[in-house]
Amino acid sequence: MFDHFQLVCGFHPAENDSLGPFIWAKASSQLRVLQAARYAELQACYYGNTGSLTIRSERGSQWQIALGRGWHAYVFGPLDARSDDVLDLQVTPLIDVPGDGRELGLMIRRFELFDEARRFAMLSASQANCIRNQQEYESGQVVLESVPPYLRINMEVRCNIPEKDQACVYCAWDWAKELERGSPPFTIKTLDDLRDFYRCSTHINDCSIGEPTMHKQFGEITARIDEDGKHFSLTTNGQLLTPKRRRELLGRNVELYVSIDSPTAQGYARYRNDRWNSVLENLGALCREKREYGNLPRVYISCIVMRSNLEDLPRFLTLMSELGVDHVKLRALALDDNVNAVTTNNGYRFDYAGELLTSTELTEIGDRVRRLAQAMQMDVYVEWEQFPVSASEAGAPLCSEPWKTLYVLRRGIMPCCYGTDPVATWGEQGGRPLDVFLRSVLNSPKLQEIRGDLASGRLSNYCLRSPSCPIVKQARADGRLPASSCGFASRA
Ligand SMILES: C[S@@+](CC[C@H](N)C(=O)[O-])C[C@H]1O[C@@H](n2cnc3c(N)ncnc32)[C@H](O)[C@@H]1O
Ligand code: SF4
Ligand code: SF4
Repeated sequence: MFDHFQLVCGFHPAENDSLGPFIWAKASSQLRVLQAARYAELQACYYGNTGSLTIRSERGSQWQIALGRGWHAYVFGPLDARSDDVLDLQVTPLIDVPGDGRELGLMIRRFELFDEARRFAMLSASQANCIRNQQEYESGQVVLESVPPYLRINMEVRCNIPEKDQACVYCAWDWAKELERGSPPFTIKTLDDLRDFYRCSTHINDCSIGEPTMHKQFGEITARIDEDGKHFSLTTNGQLLTPKRRRELLGRNVELYVSIDSPTAQGYARYRNDRWNSVLENLGALCREKREYGNLPRVYISCIVMRSNLEDLPRFLTLMSELGVDHVKLRALALDDNVNAVTTNNGYRFDYAGELLTSTELTEIGDRVRRLAQAMQMDVYVEWEQFPVSASEAGAPLCSEPWKTLYVLRRGIMPCCYGTDPVATWGEQGGRPLDVFLRSVLNSPKLQEIRGDLASGRLSNYCLRSPSCPIVKQARADGRLPASSCGFASRA
């Protein structure tokens, strides 16, 4: 966390949460620089709406950084600091953190030195954009000047599983492939063509319905996003995590989710195919190899909890803990009418509606799993519990997604991961450059209407057609909305 600095004073002891270690700096703190460098990057969380961080070097330089609410990356420089110099940090105003009586200034997850001017320019652009975006969200502005800091991409449309046999039983494969027809391929050049949509983003997440490790430029794309100082997360079926792909990931600031829903080969084959052993071998090798690379990439497990694997959860968590993964993320099956209602795979009859768990069941499972994980000293992230809490902030629009996120996918442009209809299709791009097209979509009447409704405390028609959305589900559960017309939604 602080390889480039030594803590001098003004810090509370290091702590851990599901995203890894962090440390609280008090109102005033000091760090000693361990190596000379041109620039510094700080990943920190502030609890107030706006605040200020002043950094002074003992050689007389001073930087004033505007703090925004939540987690952000902040950069400053050029530094004149040399090895052994001390930096002074002052945070104002101090904010009370509910349930914690300590003097808390800034929650810091990472503080790094670097020399690359390109990375400094990217981080400066994304820092300014992030603050503006947060202000536009909090004030409910429907036309955005900023771009969404969370950019979702779609690296690959091919997948090794359906190429050899049938798609995974819950995958909306045929629906996605139909929508993706005629869309432009994603290559490393796409990152340049995205211009500000890439330059000003902080987090890039691959949302392919496909297998990203099959992309020919996988290593190049991963390296580029990491070197540009962006957080990159992607999900893989893990079957093609060959030594070459693992080398391309080692030491990279990447969150790699590996999809496994069962602790046994037989259970895995019900949903996917007969390659459970190779997934576990690849996963085990990556967890071992990364220890010599600063524990990077972070390796997470994406597990869909269904009726047929409920009983396997304790064994599943034990296996993942033994393999040394960083955390397990439990997800619920999407309420999606675009999947097969019933599929037979490797002799198992998968009945989608029968596999869905009710909200009451999911709440009970979340509690049970947390107790289990605590006893095993393991981090588990329960996705269905997190989203509504983190998405909406007091006094702000009902949901932040259409401000903070843009899904530039081969199946179309979407405002959030719960929407199934694109707000724009690739056929609408015409001859326009990618960033010009995306800017028009970002402020299109459809997106303005969604933002306007959410800012007025209402769910838009688009949201109401998205039955998997936790905010929509909550509104239905509270009786604020009538039951859904989506076939699966009415059963869960
Ligand atoms: C579509 S896959 C693409 C990445 C990669 N091919 C894989 O399978 O991990 C991304 C994630 O979506 C999950 N997924 C697929 N269909 C789903 C559904 N109907 N409900 C919830 N998650 C689903 C998969 O388990 C996987 O973790
Ligand atoms: S879930 Fe992933 S691995 Fe399975 S068919 Fe879909 S894209 Fe391929
Ligand atoms: S469907 Fe849900 S996540 Fe998407 S914009 Fe609406 S409220 Fe937000």
